[in-house]
Amino acid sequence: MTTPRRGTVYVETYGCQMNVSDSELMLGSLASIGYLPVDAPDGADVILVNTCAIRDHAEQRVIGRLGELKRYMKADTVLGVTGCMAQRLGPRLLDRAKHVDLVIGPDGYRALPSLIEGARDGLRATAVDFDLEEHYEDVSPRRFDRVRAWIPVQRGCDYKCTYCIVPTTRGPERSRQLADVVRETERVVAEGITEVTLLGQTVNSYHDGAHDFADLLSGVGAVPGLRRLRFTSPHPNDFSDRVIEAMATVEAVCEHVHLPMQSGSTRTLKRMLRRYTREEYFDCASRLRAAIPGLSLTTDVIVGFPGETDEDFDETLSAVRELAFDDAFTFKFSPREGTPATRMPAELTVPDEIASDRLGRLIAAVREGARGRNLSLLGTRHEVLVEKVSRRGELLQARTREHRTVLVPGDESMIGAYFMVELTGTTGSTFTGAIVSERAALPLAV
Ligand code: SAH
Ligand code: SF4
Ligand code: F3S
Repeated sequence: MTTPRRGTVYVETYGCQMNVSDSELMLGSLASIGYLPVDAPDGADVILVNTCAIRDHAEQRVIGRLGELKRYMKADTVLGVTGCMAQRLGPRLLDRAKHVDLVIGPDGYRALPSLIEGARDGLRATAVDFDLEEHYEDVSPRRFDRVRAWIPVQRGCDYKCTYCIVPTTRGPERSRQLADVVRETERVVAEGITEVTLLGQTVNSYHDGAHDFADLLSGVGAVPGLRRLRFTSPHPNDFSDRVIEAMATVEAVCEHVHLPMQSGSTRTLKRMLRRYTREEYFDCASRLRAAIPGLSLTTDVIVGFPGETDEDFDETLSAVRELAFDDAFTFKFSPREGTPATRMPAELTVPDEIASDRLGRLIAAVREGARGRNLSLLGTRHEVLVEKVSRRGELLQARTREHRTVLVPGDESMIGAYFMVELTGTTGSTFTGAIVSERAALPLAV
């Protein structure tokens, strides 16, 4: 059966991996009814901007970009804004940007084809209802990456961290059925992909009614041909002994955890409603490290949360030093409309100069720690998976199981293959390496 040609579609993605994965679903759904995905907005029949609302800066970038996109639009181009900012602003976005035709939140993508048809007839529309059953089970994603696959296992979030917009933009937490996740993993492995990252806002709280995250790791990890299994982001409170045990015993599970800490001060954590203390976070990190030798640990940290004192910030700095993170994403607190943090007394606001100063000192501490640890890794050998040609173009970008980036010499034919490398240099954050043997020649199980 041939599908009718419906025109071209271009999708631009902002925000987290969950959004990347949603873009893959949207493209898959549109491709299945005859749309042709294209890599540039010029003259596309449909342009979708899949947005993020996590910080004000993320939204400002999208507003700027929506203005720029005007110049690529034909008279009949349909412009849709999807994702978290679409969900947050809803009809307000249609009022604000007259050239936007559609505003569709994360649970509304099933209606995309009909909404696009409507927009072609001049109907501007908003679709921002949550649908707790929606996992897009019947949609085949059109994946951007041919080496690694992102598989959503949970949508929404039931934590209510006081700074965070995600519960508003993605709705309540719900998990996919384990069998569906395993089936999707089997499908991507059959396509030649050997690394999978399971996605969820608090991914280790996964529960499908019958199975928890430990079962999920065991089930996905047992798919023949899968060599690397990752997940992001876990919440410290959901690392049960069962989950840690599964991480330690399922061979495909990689020795890396991205464990957002947000702050090293119990007082601040409490006001953020993170539901753990400094000590409990430290304890979680120790349990993980004790169970998984060689584990690398990365994190997210927010500075300048309302009421954060110099002493609180010093506790964050000391936590970063003591926990010896391999890397950290660091953010200045950004007030999000409607979140509890915006209702805290005005005198608790941390002035921007102070927040900027703290951010600078935090970044320096993260870099200094990572640099020392990375220097000590020079000369050691690691298995890497080659992901792509590096941004500078001459080398290939590869990654160790611990998620360290290694640039190696070679050509495009090596993309998707495994090699043993020796780390020969470091910029402080990434490595250069020399290939010492072809990993593919070695037995699969390590
Ligand atoms: N669900 C994940 C985090 C998703 S958002 C978790 O709980 O771990 C990614 C990161 O953005 C967060 O970890 C936090 O560090 C940061 N972030 C979220 N809201 C923010 C805000 N209002 N201001 C600044 N940073 C924020
Ligand atoms: Fe936001 Fe907290 Fe949920 Fe993470 S756990 S998405 S920070 S509310
Ligand atoms: Fe942004 Fe939404 Fe992800 S707010 S970080 S795209 S869940």
